[in-house]
Amino acid sequence: MSAPPPLAGVVGWPVGHSRSPALHGHWLKLYGLSGAYVAMAVAPDALATALKGLVALGFAGCNVTLPHKEQALALADAATDRARRIGAANTLAIRQGRIEADNTDGFGFIENLRQGAPDWSAAAGPALVLGAGGAARAIVAALLDAGAPEVLIANRTPERAEALAAALGARAIPWAAAEAAAAEAATLVNTTSLGMAGQPPLDLSLDRARADALATDIVYAPLETAFLRRAAARGLRTVDGLGMLLHQARPGFEAWFGVAPEVDEALRQAVLA
Ligand code: ATR
Repeated sequence: MSAPPPLAGVVGWPVGHSRSPALHGHWLKLYGLSGAYVAMAVAPDALATALKGLVALGFAGCNVTLPHKEQALALADAATDRARRIGAANTLAIRQGRIEADNTDGFGFIENLRQGAPDWSAAAGPALVLGAGGAARAIVAALLDAGAPEVLIANRTPERAEALAAALGARAIPWAAAEAAAAEAATLVNTTSLGMAGQPPLDLSLDRARADALATDIVYAPLETAFLRRAAARGLRTVDGLGMLLHQARPGFEAWFGVAPEVDEALRQAVLA
């Protein structure tokens, strides 16, 4: 008897908006693999039971999204260093009945920049990160690991920026100082929800930004935010946020289905559709 096809999915609450089923579904079809990737709505108090269920069902693993990312790390049997450092998991692999937690958000962020702007280097100068939520945490860690000489964090609520900076070895600056910091930064990152459809735009002047700076946004709906439009108008390199979502999915897909997948235009279109 041959082994049953591998099963994986995304666990969230709510989960209906997740683009991960379209993303992994596209790759499964493209590479001609048997296996399935499904969306699973799991209430916050049911995560432990649900994960035990996935182990019992023989799942190869799953993605974990809001609000489960911290709890998933705590429930896992093992975790990568980067997941521990970020304090949250987004990718779980189940091997011999054990749950192994990883966090691939920072990997996805860096890979997106490498693909979208191949000449970009974190080492080119300080990075300015706007926002101090869960996404910022993964991005700040990834920028430091990639060689950014300094990472400045500006957040509306200063205590969150200070806590994040202290935890990861970055520097918090006042929200009002972001414009001045933007003049020094080689990498400018919006990790706030500003600019998302239905939200006000991020209103940050880039008039003094370095001509060689790169601007990127984690918002991908719309793909071109006002922040990226302003950066492009000023002649900066820009990379939109969709690629971070696509690249963060690569390690999970490879772990569950055994093929290292590629991010290309067809995948972007499949996920946008
Ligand atoms: P995630 O975990 O996805 O990053 P989050 O933790 O809710 O989401 O973080 C959202 C980020 O957007 C935060 O940095 C938030 O700032 P606060 O920490 O001050 O809440 C930021 N944000 C949301 N709305 C904002 C607004 N109107 N102006 C400035 N920052 C805003």
